[in-house]
Amino acid sequence: MTEAAQEILFNPMDPAFRANPYPAYRALRENMPMWRSPFGFWVATRHADITAILRDKRMGHDFEGRHMRGPEPWRLDEPAVRNLGQTMLVRDPPDHTRLRGLVARAFTARLMEEMRPRIRQIVHDLIDAVEASGEMDVVRDFAHKLPVIVICDMLGIPEEDRAQFLERSRVSGRLVDPTPMSREELDLANTNNLELEAYFTSLFERRRREPGDDLTTALVQARDEDGALTDAELMWNTSLLFAAGHETTANLIGNGLLTLHRYPDQLARLKAEPGLMPNAIEEMLRFESSVQMTGRTAFEDVEVGGVTVAREESVICLLAAANRDPEAFPTPDPETFDVARPGVRALSFGGGIHFCLGAQLARIEGEEAFSVLLERLPNLRLEGMDDLSWRPTFTLRGLTTLQARW
Ligand code: HEM
Repeated sequence: MTEAAQEILFNPMDPAFRANPYPAYRALRENMPMWRSPFGFWVATRHADITAILRDKRMGHDFEGRHMRGPEPWRLDEPAVRNLGQTMLVRDPPDHTRLRGLVARAFTARLMEEMRPRIRQIVHDLIDAVEASGEMDVVRDFAHKLPVIVICDMLGIPEEDRAQFLERSRVSGRLVDPTPMSREELDLANTNNLELEAYFTSLFERRRREPGDDLTTALVQARDEDGALTDAELMWNTSLLFAAGHETTANLIGNGLLTLHRYPDQLARLKAEPGLMPNAIEEMLRFESSVQMTGRTAFEDVEVGGVTVAREESVICLLAAANRDPEAFPTPDPETFDVARPGVRALSFGGGIHFCLGAQLARIEGEEAFSVLLERLPNLRLEGMDDLSWRPTFTLRGLTTLQARW
């Protein structure tokens, strides 16, 4: 295969590729499962290779080193990029271990399960708001609102402050894309960061004066009483919870509903057998993964999938390609959607030490969103399924809009 042909196989800049990246993933997985791109980074597509990479202690993020060595070292001067570098998402041990430990205690399976009735109530409220009109934009009116309200609850963001988070997304998904950002995109991300910083500074002050039973109070106290994290880490890890849990979960709901309507037999089966819901959520995340990829950099030479990833080389791990690997999902055909697929061990939430902290929360949000939606709007139909508008982000896969009527 020529280099030009290889490049075409993985071109997240191309809207047609983003609309349906799966044939390209398959071609890579079958022909060059560890592909070294002309730009010098590796692209991994097999479930076994990606699982090994994510668990390998000889690989990590090396956030600053990677930027300094990359084609755009100046990006580290951009506030939004620098601030991302403060988050556990891209930090390596021991910083990662310390930061994750501070937040993890708020995300135990038991605490998440206790949130289920409240999450169900939020879903009912959102449907109450649109039911009589007979239509909604699923993305705007439903999918984006649920995770924002849930994380606002967890962070103790007062009701009166929530409109700004509900009205527009402050998430800059492009920051975690493998392709360069334009000046305009960077400016927008920097402005969003400034606004977030102003808001959270005032929230931290408020929680110092009026402590609550919420995660923000716990993190502020960890900062003030134990010196367990810096001001910048407090700021940007609190923001991370917003960013990491918002668009990803919204996209689970949007992509999942679309998939159910593309496979009406599966929708009918789920309606008839609601006990399949937890499995169906895993299958939605496998089939149209909200997070298509992550990346790791080698701290030393590492053998994986029959190649040597040399020290300081990076690997793009296409989680969504691994999620359709027939070696991991032999039957039924991984290119089909099956709500009863047995043993869905997908990589949708990553793996290893960075395994998604909010996985259980996202699953519960998904289960409640779909259960209530199917129960209360059983005749819901989608419009424009032949002319979908995918967001311009690659790593975070989701629709800009999805019209529904009932
Ligand atoms: C369907 C929804 C979600 C998906 C598909 C998803 C996916 C992921 C993935 C793939 C990673 C690992 C990234 C990597 O290894 O580089 C991750 C990490 C993370 N996620 Fe999620 N996520 C979802 C929802 C949430 C929610 C609701 C929260 C919290 C409110 C959350 C918080 C986090 C955090 C804090 C990390 C970083 C963990 C670490 O670095 O140790 N996520 N997520």
